[in-house]
Amino acid sequence: MNLFILTGAGVSAESGLGVFRGTGAALWKRYDPMQLATPEAFMRDPALVHEFYNARRRNLIAAASNAAHIALARLEAGLAQRGDSMTLVTQNIDDLHERAGSKRVIHMHGELLKARCASCGAVRDCREELSTDSRCGCDGALRPHVVWFGETPLYMEEIYAALERADRFVAIGTSGAVYPAAGFVREARARGLRCCEVNLEPSENAAQFDERRYGRASEIVPSWVEEILAR
Ligand code: OAD
Repeated sequence: MNLFILTGAGVSAESGLGVFRGTGAALWKRYDPMQLATPEAFMRDPALVHEFYNARRRNLIAAASNAAHIALARLEAGLAQRGDSMTLVTQNIDDLHERAGSKRVIHMHGELLKARCASCGAVRDCREELSTDSRCGCDGALRPHVVWFGETPLYMEEIYAALERADRFVAIGTSGAVYPAAGFVREARARGLRCCEVNLEPSENAAQFDERRYGRASEIVPSWVEEILAR
């Protein structure tokens, strides 16, 4: 078995990090992403963008992984033990998969606990607040190491190569609204993979999945993992 798992904000929702879309309180209903999550927004008002990501970084540092993250880490270890494998690709910029014990996580939208130099591109760990005074060794301005609207997601070659090798595709806690991640299920189907969706409610791509399980990730993911490991 070679699983390809894509996670989104729904997997971290019960850790208190909030989601971007969907029913209920959502980040992009309260804030305008065009003012906070684009390269143009950072050029126009870097202090405002830093303030937004500083608050999210503080929340993340105070948060903890939940049962869904822990189950996925257990799945990685359990599959490896019996010679199977999985690729975990996340749209999330938090480190809750890693804190739960996942060894290999591909962060296609970057990582909140890293900063990148806007001039030389160097990436470094960052747990502190960033401001317009935050500088790289080369004197370039530091920005959050996250992918903004209009920027290309990271590791795309590696991700498509993993999709080619996979025999099953599973999307967990993602609304299917943001490309290219929202297009992975179509790629997977075209390659004949069985596709499963785990989400609180049907995503925008729900019709493309062969199997759909709805409910809270902290409940559905652990039971699904047990089923896979029992096979
Ligand atoms: P969204 O906020 O768009 O979707 C989260 C999904 O999780 C929704 O379909 C919710 O119904 C579902 N959900 C909420 N609570 C859940 C729970 N407890 N258990 C299971 N599912 C739950 O998040 P993403 O699809 O990850 O990009 O968003 C994709 C990208 O859009 C993000 O990475 C971010 C955002 O703009 C960037 O910032 C570049």
